[in-house]
Amino acid sequence: MTDLTDHVRSLDSTGLPSYVYDLAALRTHAAAVRQALPERVEMYYAAKANPEPEILAALAPYVEGYEVSSGGELAHVAKAVPGRPLAFGGPGKTPDEITIALERGVERFHVESAHELRMLAELARRVAPGRRVGVLPRVNLPVPDGSLEGGSLAMGGRPTPFGLDPARAREVVVALTDGTYPHLELRGVHAHLASGLEAAEQLGVARAVVSWATGLGVPLTEVNVGGGMGVDYADPERRFDWAAYGEGLARLTEAHPGLTLRIEPGRALTAYCGWYVTEVLDVKRSHGEEFAVVRGGTHHLRTPATKGHDQPFSVLAVDDWPHPWPRPATTGEPGGTGAAPHGTGAAPVQAGGSVTLAGQLCTPKDVLARRVPAPGLRAGDRVLFALAGAYAWNISHHDFLMHPRPGFHFLNA
Ligand SMILES: Cc1ncc(COP(=O)(O)O)c(C=O)c1O
Repeated sequence: MTDLTDHVRSLDSTGLPSYVYDLAALRTHAAAVRQALPERVEMYYAAKANPEPEILAALAPYVEGYEVSSGGELAHVAKAVPGRPLAFGGPGKTPDEITIALERGVERFHVESAHELRMLAELARRVAPGRRVGVLPRVNLPVPDGSLEGGSLAMGGRPTPFGLDPARAREVVVALTDGTYPHLELRGVHAHLASGLEAAEQLGVARAVVSWATGLGVPLTEVNVGGGMGVDYADPERRFDWAAYGEGLARLTEAHPGLTLRIEPGRALTAYCGWYVTEVLDVKRSHGEEFAVVRGGTHHLRTPATKGHDQPFSVLAVDDWPHPWPRPATTGEPGGTGAAPHGTGAAPVQAGGSVTLAGQLCTPKDVLARRVPAPGLRAGDRVLFALAGAYAWNISHHDFLMHPRPGFHFLNA
């Protein structure tokens, strides 16, 4: 087993920044999640969270399939994990994308609108005349009251481009059962209403979706209740309560014999297995506050800028300073407040003082963590940003300022 800290120490400065993924940690986590889920609950991994082929392959034993949201993801995932079931979702599917998905024999289409359903029906008639294509209309249901706390993000229950308005969804679902679309087969209903929810809120969502779907009075075999299980960036040790969620889902499946539930988490599966590892290039004071500029920045790890949080980190002190010029360091003088540095097993810096960790971009938005304690932080010290395994590299604006791309390391493959 390669230890993360040892690996980071072994990297040369020119090998920074790097994304380091611990695939053993990913497998252990995914196995625990799988273990918590009852029978008749399938798990598809939402590939958009992190589509690195090594990540997709490491998850393969623990998931029933993969949710893809574009033709690009579809081709990529089909290549990385050949033969695994795919569900094709996402708004604005093009005729070309749908045609390719039909040619590849994609098992399930999450249909986002009445227009998309008509397009799919016609393309299925032409491209896949001999089979009935599995369809789950996506419905934009209200998120149950009290479910949207803190950092959660609603995609349903309000005007959004996602899924069918519930007022229209009923007729679309019913049209799939009355012979209008002989080349399509209604499998069930899909909903992804919010992200960043705790287990109790997720159960409320699951109950609401199942109740709406079964209340339609048409035969359904499956209901996909979406992803969106929360990751706490302020407290990385606290994880989504999969045991409680699994118990709640078990009660739901018991109440609906013959129905398979499906979930499609992304972030809560892969966030924990990745670190964005870099080094401090410069330390300075500006208008009474301390700043450390690290190699890289939000063009590699955009998550803290988009979600507005401090990316949790720990510091690996590097005592060697190979340069003839003086080494800048934080002074630890007052200048702000912040949370304690968080967890990778690397030794945390001593408490007190605060510093803003910024990247190399020419924008004040290039901040990875603001006014966090890191007294004594010096140029040359290494910083390990945790929870960088999901919505990190692949959602970032890599080419802004043309800095080099990070390295990628997959430990314990
Ligand atoms: C349709 C759909 N399913 C699943 C997910 C995964 O969500 P999360 O990564 O929050 O679990 C998303 C994320 O946007 C989504 O849009």
